[in-house]
Amino acid sequence: MTSDIDPRQPLTHQPLDPTWWRQAAVYQIYPRSFADANGDGIGDLRGIISRVPYLERLGIDAVWLSPFYPSALADGGYDVADYRDVDPRIGTLDEFDEMVAALHAAGIRVIVDIVPNHSSDQHVWFQEALAAGPGSPERARYVFRDGLGPDGSQPPADWESMFGGLAWTRVPDGQWYLHLFAKEQPDFNWDNEEVREDFRRTLRFWSDRGVDGFRIDVAHALAKELGDSLPTQAEIDAITEPGAHPLWDRDEVHEVYADWRKVFDEYTPPRIAVAEAWVTTPRRPRYASAEGLGQAFNFDLLEADFDAGQFRTIIADNLALSAASGSSTTWVFSNHDVVRHATRYALPARNGSTAKQGRDWLLSGGTEPVADVALGLRRARAATLLMLGLPGSAYLYQGEELGLPEVADIPAAERQDPTFFRSPGVDVGRDGCRVPLPWTREGTSFGFGDGGAHLPQPRTFGELSVQAQDGAPGSTLELYRAALALRRELQTDETLEWVPGRADVLHFTRPNGWHVMTNFGTDAVPLPDGEVLLTSEPLPGGVLPGATTAWVRAAV
Ligand code: GLC
Ligand code: CA
Repeated sequence: MTSDIDPRQPLTHQPLDPTWWRQAAVYQIYPRSFADANGDGIGDLRGIISRVPYLERLGIDAVWLSPFYPSALADGGYDVADYRDVDPRIGTLDEFDEMVAALHAAGIRVIVDIVPNHSSDQHVWFQEALAAGPGSPERARYVFRDGLGPDGSQPPADWESMFGGLAWTRVPDGQWYLHLFAKEQPDFNWDNEEVREDFRRTLRFWSDRGVDGFRIDVAHALAKELGDSLPTQAEIDAITEPGAHPLWDRDEVHEVYADWRKVFDEYTPPRIAVAEAWVTTPRRPRYASAEGLGQAFNFDLLEADFDAGQFRTIIADNLALSAASGSSTTWVFSNHDVVRHATRYALPARNGSTAKQGRDWLLSGGTEPVADVALGLRRARAATLLMLGLPGSAYLYQGEELGLPEVADIPAAERQDPTFFRSPGVDVGRDGCRVPLPWTREGTSFGFGDGGAHLPQPRTFGELSVQAQDGAPGSTLELYRAALALRRELQTDETLEWVPGRADVLHFTRPNGWHVMTNFGTDAVPLPDGEVLLTSEPLPGGVLPGATTAWVRAAV
């Protein structure tokens, strides 16, 4: 089967180019928090449609939509009740088609999120599994086991879920099911052919609707080695050999992606995929290979301090890795799971564990240590301008173009993330980066919608709103717009060359004479010769101040 892009949905930029993703700037939309058109407090597809001109003006190449499927929202939509429909609170399939058409007409491609490790417990298959009882084919689509002990009242293993608490939950007839995440997210059994066939169907369903690609949620899960006697958590924790873990990053998972690759290649251009795989760096290329998903997130910069040495090693290693896999590399500073980078960089450096640092800071209610908000934003702008100058794809998260900070003081009663409820006192969860976007200076929910916002927005959001920054010289929004526009013009071969210099400065050139220089230190440094195209901060005296990036064009 071949399905060309609908000619009524023209992409202005080479619609059939099979390599479009290699150096794309992809903007992540968290639909419930982007824009609310009908005023019920929840972002929706109509809201996205209404903001297509904003996205077009921003200058991104694609959007990735976090899940918008029917869901009981036990995990912000990553508990999917129906993979081939739209949550009625977010929209309809017709509105989805309208949104894709509007985005394509604006030259923006569409990536949707696929959540294959687990469904929602509300999914019809899980409900059937509960009803059908032990030993049934319905139960075989998930991971059910008898419990231990004389009456089976002990879990089959003491495994901990990713959100805290036990990874097994007992059902009324006495069996237990596995959930690596919340108990409302039962894990699929990927040895089951019906499960495999259903996901092929889902990939075709969205591809046929004109979707250009997929972001694969916890792509390193799925395949599991579950023999008759299960190891203990302590035994699992002691495993260090690559590929030997019974639950994560098993080699068999790549059979699933080789199979999906055939589905992607049924389309012209082939549908693309990017793996969310939190695996060690050497294990990443396999997810990104052309026989597999084709691309994988690289979260290394997201963990790094704002530090020239750390950045340099990470950049060099990942360029080498992508050359090995044949894929292009990816860069990410922020997403819906981590403390926003403007806030991480406002905290003291902690040896390349800023994501964890951010979570610890949230535990203190955002008071300890004291965040240097201005410095954090300044560094975030410098880091982003560096990233947008690198070869490969840049993944941006909604709101970072406004320099939004993490919201630290969400009252417990208003929190939604299961991490907060399942690990009391250990992790406050991810709501602080999912607060609805501010579009206007004033008004109900700062223009997010007429019915308020589903997570509380701080007063500071008004001055960070799109309205406040639109056309304002030096604003973060205008910096992103200028950088994305220039990046399209300057984009070149996927290589860079380092220019040696000070230890606290990174300086590289792209093959067309595009210089990118970031000063991670505090002393101002001279700029390379050439035309200064863009800087993340003003240049007093014509030199590059600390925590600032410059793009310079030199004759080649
Ligand atoms: C991924 C998602 C995260 C979700 C988890 C379980 O890590 O990014 O938001 O909670 O998978 O689906
Ligand atoms: Ca709504």
